[in-house]
Amino acid sequence: MVTTKTPGPKGLLITGNLLAFRKDPLGFLLKTQQEFGDVAHMRFGPARHMYLINDPDLIKEVLMTKQKSFQKAKGLQTAKAVVGEGVLTSEGEAHLRQRRLMQPSFRKDRVSKYADSMVELTDDLLAGWKDHQERSITDDMMELTLNIITRTMFGTSLKGGLHDIGHAVEVGMKYVSNKASSIFDIPESIPTKSNLEFKQAAKTLDDVIYRIIEERRNNPNTNGTGDDLLSMLLAAKDEEDGTGMTDQQVRDEVMTIFLAGHETTANTLAWTWYLLSSHPEVEHKLWQELDQVLGGRKPTIDDLGKLDYLHQVIWESMRLYPAVWVINREATEEVEIGGHLFKPGDTLMMSQFAMHRNPKYYDHPEQFIPERFAGGELLKRIPQFAYFPFGGGPRVCIGNNFALMEAALILATIGSRYKLSLAPNHPEVEPEPLVTLRPKLGLKMIVAAR
Ligand code: HEM
Repeated sequence: MVTTKTPGPKGLLITGNLLAFRKDPLGFLLKTQQEFGDVAHMRFGPARHMYLINDPDLIKEVLMTKQKSFQKAKGLQTAKAVVGEGVLTSEGEAHLRQRRLMQPSFRKDRVSKYADSMVELTDDLLAGWKDHQERSITDDMMELTLNIITRTMFGTSLKGGLHDIGHAVEVGMKYVSNKASSIFDIPESIPTKSNLEFKQAAKTLDDVIYRIIEERRNNPNTNGTGDDLLSMLLAAKDEEDGTGMTDQQVRDEVMTIFLAGHETTANTLAWTWYLLSSHPEVEHKLWQELDQVLGGRKPTIDDLGKLDYLHQVIWESMRLYPAVWVINREATEEVEIGGHLFKPGDTLMMSQFAMHRNPKYYDHPEQFIPERFAGGELLKRIPQFAYFPFGGGPRVCIGNNFALMEAALILATIGSRYKLSLAPNHPEVEPEPLVTLRPKLGLKMIVAAR
């Protein structure tokens, strides 16, 4: 039977559930999941109908089988100011074409070429660490993953410029994040401080990116080794019509990868360090594995297959603190999912944070138990979308292999040499769900040589 009336948490007359959601998004989603069935109705403001989808098979319908009836929800439109019409923000045919062009550059064998740079840049970070020093691990991880994505993108051809790029990307990210969470949408044309700062940052990035694109187009053989991502994007040809990308499209994809490709991994690592520091038995087991496999040397891509427990730690960290904590989709036509009829404009929310803590699929869901992922049994047993840190369907994270390899190599490189503990009197560590899920107030940790 198809129903148009779906139960959900009670809201206020005009704002509906918006204020309750804003006050504590994660708590609100968890509670709604516990109290209502597979689909819960909410209202954000007088006429914006939102539905939390709590069943993995229904999530699969939204993201895979019936994905043609949906588009990415409006929140992401603000990202267009930075990334234009890249693979993250485009829809329909345009998205499929960009995805076809980009996909080969993110294949496992291609991204494995970046392993050595990842380890080298982690080593560079460690060169600045002093024994028993207090550091902002959230800042360190953010800077490291930004350096890695910049090196991956431009190879070693980017002389100097690294700092300018880093700063400009940070300004762009903050701008998107603030805009996405602000109630009033101040148009870009109004010269507020943040609009001006953003314009300057966008110009810096455009200048650098277009200059490098031009150099590469004029001189394909003399710049870079051909292995960096930019070379691959410039060389990519659509297998269906044989055409490549325009400069503008390459620029949009470069920005997209900067935006999507570092904060998520940085937060995943920050959460992992926090969880390890608060679970000494897991930390010791990880050290044992690292010592046994690496014996004190730096990790390489070939070691990754032997670091089983390290991967379990990363999966479990992404279960409890998924960097992407919710995926939203907006119906573009009338569509039925799980007996519920959705109208054009309705927004469906699928929350990794809530689903990954659902007791139907996980014993002791609030506890950090990496062993639950041992041998891959759990992932075979539970439905596909009971665990979906990278999303799924045609818009599944294009960088998932890259991210897992990066997180594993960084964790192995640092974990072999340092123990990280929360700084004394650290405020309680709480998740803050902005564009990504990050530790509110950051993480201050003492780094001690092992
Ligand atoms: C732990 C790290 C990461 C997590 C948890 C993550 C998660 C996600 C998720 C959940 C989506 C799907 C969003 C949706 O369907 O609305 C996504 C998309 C995307 N991710 Fe990631 N990501 C990570 C790292 C990366 C990296 C390293 C890159 C690039 C180097 C990247 C590039 C992208 C792109 C381009 C998309 C858009 C794909 C499309 O719409 O076709 N991500 N990511």
